[in-house]
Amino acid sequence: MKKVFITGAASGIGKSTAKKFWDEGNELVLIDMPDLKTSELEFMFPERMTYIQGDVTKEQTLTQIEAQMKKGVDVLVNNAGITRDAQTVKMTDEQWDMVIDVNLTAVFKLSRMAALQMKEAGNGGVILNAASVVAHYGNFGQANYVATKAGVIGMTKTMARELGKYGIRVNAIAPGFIATPIINTMPEKVIKGMEDKSPLRRIGAPEEIASAYAFLAGDEAKFITGTCLNVDGGLTL
Ligand SMILES: NC(=O)c1ccc[n+]([C@@H]2O[C@H](COP(=O)([O-])OP(=O)(O)OC[C@H]3O[C@@H](n4cnc5c(N)ncnc54)[C@H](O)[C@@H]3O)[C@@H](O)[C@H]2O)c1
Repeated sequence: MKKVFITGAASGIGKSTAKKFWDEGNELVLIDMPDLKTSELEFMFPERMTYIQGDVTKEQTLTQIEAQMKKGVDVLVNNAGITRDAQTVKMTDEQWDMVIDVNLTAVFKLSRMAALQMKEAGNGGVILNAASVVAHYGNFGQANYVATKAGVIGMTKTMARELGKYGIRVNAIAPGFIATPIINTMPEKVIKGMEDKSPLRRIGAPEEIASAYAFLAGDEAKFITGTCLNVDGGLTL
């Protein structure tokens, strides 16, 4: 049984990833903003689960997570992410800062925290980060989001180099378009366009990203570090 921390676990890919790790018999520490009842996590995971209700950009939440990590951490999935889209010329400082804070700075701080604990415990560990296919080719109206996802890939490679000697593997996943609330804000025709562009002719399901996280966290992937795995139905071909 591993102790698995997942941010943004109350919705979409994070929730499916929590379900996957729970089904595999692991102990979960889930972090997200809604209360436990609203998030339904309490009903989904009646045991082996601790919920930290909080915002990963806030010190208070980081302190709570650190207290849990001090009791052990085997896997960290930095999944929480947001969009605040606007074309560059219309993007406000606030839109830029919010996305950087959640998608990049919190990922750095939590990875640093987990790496310190893993290094001290001496049993290795796995850090997994949410990137996106848009990191590879940019996306209209998403200078902030794309900057964070490209940043996450660079950070993943750097941390993999630094932490490999402690048996800590660091990888990222770049999902294509996945059916979760984050893409509900997109116009129907953009989603249809993505389906048509994809070699598999469809958008993905959150469970398909969860499976990839579980693979990268497990022993089947024990020689994989510093990679960014595209899970996108071939969208980036
Ligand atoms: N859905 C997609 O098509 C897609 C594609 C590429 C990458 N991704 C990435 O995958 C990750 C998950 O996306 P999703 O589609 O499941 O999104 P989602 O909106 O369904 O879920 C994101 C979760 O993160 C939580 N969250 C946001 N800000 C937070 C904060 N400051 N502190 C704590 N929790 C916070 C939200 O409350 C939410 O529960 C994100 O990093 C996203 O950028 C998603």
